[in-house]
Amino acid sequence: MPKEFFITTAIYYTNSSPHVGHSYEMVLADVIARYHRLKGENVFFLTGVDQHGQKVQQSAAKAGVPPAEFVKEVTQKWLDLSKKVVQGILQRLFEEGQIYKDKQSGYYSVRQEQFLTDKERGPDGQFGPEWGEIEFREEENYYFKLSQYKDWLLEYLKGRADAVIPDFRQTELRNAVEKISGDLCISRPKSRLDWGIELPFDKDFVTYVWFDALTNYISFADYDPSKSNIEHQPSNFQDRWPALQIIGKDILVPAHGIYWLIMLHAIGFPDDQMPQLLVHGWWNIAGAKMSKSVGNIVDPFVLSDKYSADALRYYLMSDMAVGQDADFSEERLIERYNADLANSLGNLLNRTLNMVHRYRDGIIDYAVRNIKQQEPEEPRSFERYLSLMNEFKLDAAINQASRRIKWSNAIIDAQAPWVLAKSPDKSDALKLSEVLYGCVESLRTAAVLLSPIIPKAAHGIFDQLNWKMELSGKEERFSLADAEWGRLPDRHAVGKPTPLFPRIEE
Ligand code: MSP
Repeated sequence: MPKEFFITTAIYYTNSSPHVGHSYEMVLADVIARYHRLKGENVFFLTGVDQHGQKVQQSAAKAGVPPAEFVKEVTQKWLDLSKKVVQGILQRLFEEGQIYKDKQSGYYSVRQEQFLTDKERGPDGQFGPEWGEIEFREEENYYFKLSQYKDWLLEYLKGRADAVIPDFRQTELRNAVEKISGDLCISRPKSRLDWGIELPFDKDFVTYVWFDALTNYISFADYDPSKSNIEHQPSNFQDRWPALQIIGKDILVPAHGIYWLIMLHAIGFPDDQMPQLLVHGWWNIAGAKMSKSVGNIVDPFVLSDKYSADALRYYLMSDMAVGQDADFSEERLIERYNADLANSLGNLLNRTLNMVHRYRDGIIDYAVRNIKQQEPEEPRSFERYLSLMNEFKLDAAINQASRRIKWSNAIIDAQAPWVLAKSPDKSDALKLSEVLYGCVESLRTAAVLLSPIIPKAAHGIFDQLNWKMELSGKEERFSLADAEWGRLPDRHAVGKPTPLFPRIEE
């Protein structure tokens, strides 16, 4: 059992700006990471190098250099580190005879940087326009003996039903593996590409691609390329590997599902040390792919400035089933925000705190403790939340938290505390205390459960409930233990309400 929970995202191409699809992947990984922190685990979260934003600017200012220079310096350190690992791995595979040189001639797509085979020809026998300019080439290159591992990969997938999540992606991968033929070209002559990591055994070539890109997942986790036995790896690496790797559906086959798993196997990773691949779908726009050329790119920075990061996170996590595609629409974001956050959650917080102040001087009555307060209608909703989160059914897990909120709103409507408050009956006074107690507990426990998804708002709820103020703003403020119903102490004084989710009026 690793000591750290290790989670990765893809690394992002920096030739274009991030769109909302990229932010989905990062938020998804971030939510899972936060959930594991909530469970009290140490988390190691790896994503691509970020050269954007104020943090960089601030650090650069501190260092007294312009941001561009600062970024370059830091990036260089990362590059030097990963270069060593890439070269170390290639050298080892070369010495073991797993990499060989061969000559290839044929049609080459300049745009896709690959040789084309008959498979790539259209029904008319021609290479389609997606390949761009085609030329005939004859070239020597290095090859990795990929196809000799086909049987191993099939066996591995057969032996582990959740190697890839969801199931249908594992099936897709297995079908692709059945079709493996030929080895993987892993180099380009420097004469035509010199932006790359030089092959350690031939200075006339750079490696291209995937040995340079995929190895980031282990190089940044302190993998030592000189040790083929994983038990001799540095303890840092052993503490965190294997990772849960979050990828989009387009980079399962062949990159992660075939090349990466085979590479790991070839360099000595046993089957029980293979990473698990969680494959998510794509956010489309009206059913079509988001693309720069179509001009339908949605900018996540614009959205989070406009609606808040939590609003965007909530929408992305609640309106897509992990693994499936979904359609992105700003109207839908607003709809979900207004219904779930502004009306349901925000409203409950606001009216509960107002009532506690109005009817109970801001104090949650201790008398309630004597009535063995039951958890809302569904005593097992917490366990359901846990198992849904563990199965990456985040949208359904969010619903488990939302049900508490709905339950409390419904109780307020049914019990009418404003009527109870006027009643001279002792039993009505007790009833009122009980309702208020239940509402505060719903809010408090829902905030814990929703904290991985909407961390800032969850802090806001805790602040207003006046709960764990000493941890305000800190991640340790949330722990699963606090999701237990009834933890609110006797005579707890709540804070004043301030609107958390103002309605979005379009
Ligand atoms: N650089 C490669 C990955 C190399 S991993 C060693 C790459 N980069 S990417 O920037 O094009 O995409 C990065 C990730 O974003 C991929 O997992 C991809 O599936 C995901 N997404 C890109 N567009 C997306 C959507 N529209 N929706 C959801 N995720 C999307 O591929």
